[in-house]
Amino acid sequence: MRELKNRVAVVTGGANGIGKGLATRFLTEGMRVVIADNDRGDLERAAAELARLGEVLAVRTDVADAASVQALADAAVDRFGAVHVLCNNAGVGGAQRFSTIGQATWEWTLGVNLFGVIHGCRVFLPILAEQDEAYVVNTASMSGFLTGGYLTPYNVSKAGVVSLTEGLAFEWAEEFPHIGVAVLCPAYTATAIRHDERNAPPGHVPRAQADPSLTGHRDKVNRTIEQEGLPVSAIADLVVRAMAARRTHIFPHPEWLRTWADRVDRVTAQARPLP
Ligand SMILES: NC(=O)c1ccc[n+]([C@@H]2O[C@H](COP(=O)([O-])OP(=O)(O)OC[C@H]3O[C@@H](n4cnc5c(N)ncnc54)[C@H](O)[C@@H]3O)[C@@H](O)[C@H]2O)c1
Repeated sequence: MRELKNRVAVVTGGANGIGKGLATRFLTEGMRVVIADNDRGDLERAAAELARLGEVLAVRTDVADAASVQALADAAVDRFGAVHVLCNNAGVGGAQRFSTIGQATWEWTLGVNLFGVIHGCRVFLPILAEQDEAYVVNTASMSGFLTGGYLTPYNVSKAGVVSLTEGLAFEWAEEFPHIGVAVLCPAYTATAIRHDERNAPPGHVPRAQADPSLTGHRDKVNRTIEQEGLPVSAIADLVVRAMAARRTHIFPHPEWLRTWADRVDRVTAQARPLP
């Protein structure tokens, strides 16, 4: 998708971090932008800031709730008459041992990170299908390609987003060839995702309380994210260029693919004939 000017983008998790970076970039490209977020205060602040760059609609949305995503789509079409680019980007997650994670935390993480993306793709598909050209960008993570400890709900959700997006790329190439689809897989990016628990549902036990043994690990990861993470403007720049090139995978940190290749080697070794 090369021509963005005057088109309409919807960005979930658009009040902060990567989503706000995408919204900023889309506005500077001359797009009209809908930002969706479940944090009312952040949404209002972001909308006021972004309105200096162009036409913005802010819609309070819980992406884990299909009816709320439908209301977002209705509001976008009511205001702008179309949607051409959908970024299913809202996400939550942080380090915790499996043995300390309760049901509410699993449901919250998979609800936002995986069902949020599924609802977005399903609800917006008929609207995207009506346009001459459209694109869906689903935010996963390098975690969608990697495994390891302390991040099981997050990794499971992001592997699901990778799998969903690859399935859609296969099906839509035939069924809706005018809709491009990509999965965005960043590693460390400079955002305030460390505050993700502020809007967690009742029943989620804060990680610091449920699993204090990982406090040092979490602090280290959060410092790396904030101090060494890629700026969100670099992610947004890559997304715009990848849509123009009709890529299906967007890797802002390609050096991490070596870790994925190591995993493939480890798994392949398990297929050796047994003694
Ligand atoms: N920051 C990183 O290092 C990094 C790395 C890889 C992937 N990601 C992914 O990038 C995406 C954006 O994260 P970020 O780092 O910009 O974090 P962020 O916390 O800055 O932004 C996430 C936004 O999503 C919103 N949100 C949370 N739950 C929601 C819900 N139920 N409905 C609607 N909005 C909701 C939050 O209010 C917030 O504004 C996430 O999917 C995250 O998993 C981030």
